[in-house]
Amino acid sequence: MVMTGNTVLITGGSAGIGFALAREFLTAGNEVIVCGRSERKLAQAKEQLPALHTRVSDVSDEQQRQELYNWTIESFPAVNVLVNNAGIQQRLNLQKTSEVWNHYHREIEANLEGPIHLTMLFLPHLLQQSRATVVNVTSGLAITPAAFAPIYSATKAALHSFSISLRVQLQDTPVDVVDILPPAVNTDLGGPGLHTFGADVNEFATAVFQKMDNGELEIGFGDSDRRLKASNEELKQAPKQMWERFKSNNPAF
Ligand SMILES: NC(=O)c1ccc[n+]([C@@H]2O[C@H](COP(=O)([O-])OP(=O)(O)OC[C@H]3O[C@@H](n4cnc5c(N)ncnc54)[C@H](OP(=O)(O)O)[C@@H]3O)[C@@H](O)[C@H]2O)c1
Repeated sequence: MVMTGNTVLITGGSAGIGFALAREFLTAGNEVIVCGRSERKLAQAKEQLPALHTRVSDVSDEQQRQELYNWTIESFPAVNVLVNNAGIQQRLNLQKTSEVWNHYHREIEANLEGPIHLTMLFLPHLLQQSRATVVNVTSGLAITPAAFAPIYSATKAALHSFSISLRVQLQDTPVDVVDILPPAVNTDLGGPGLHTFGADVNEFATAVFQKMDNGELEIGFGDSDRRLKASNEELKQAPKQMWERFKSNNPAF
């Protein structure tokens, strides 16, 4: 992927991985638009990176996705990179569910329906550009699920699968499809303090940016890089090992 001179829309770019990628794209000479649900977080992001364009939008809401698309195309007709990054993570013991379905469904809406719908909205426009990219931020958990986050892991596996199909369908077009599979990264995903054991977010974003520049289409880092190369047997054992480790650290789960 050519990493300069693009107009890039990053969903969930006000914090965490999306914000760190926004910084990389700005530094490399791109126009960058970020969206998120919280106006306050977007304002804080703009304070740190004044060149950012911001827009309040919740990608789990169909109408807001349509409005985001309409606004972006009108305000930034040169948009040629869509980064589907926004996502949430909910930990869940399937033997102890107590919430209404909407509580669980919102993870599917944000992590899966949002990226698929936005891709379908933007695709006709992207296909008209001389070069364009759809970047989906999935997860190492797309390869081996974390049983403590079963719906989350399923959404990421599904988005990883969608990325493969999209890449195959677009192989003879100017649109590349990049799948970033982060390992644990130290952000507020799932709530503050749950990912402090993860990789430094800026180191992660810099490495990912370099790999995109090198033309890689499936991008892992650290542990997720190892998962992408793991044997079938390792892939079979990993979910059980992760679950046992999690249960011993969280006996009341
Ligand atoms: N951190 C990790 O360990 C890790 C590992 C693997 C994959 N990932 C993936 O990386 C992506 C970014 O996660 P992160 O770790 O950077 O999380 P984060 O620190 O919680 O940041 C999430 C960002 O997305 C926005 N967002 C959340 N829900 C949204 C929605 N419905 N519509 C629009 N924006 C939304 C948030 O802003 P608002 O709250 O204001 O909306 C924020 O800007 C996610 O897809 C996540 O699944 C993360």
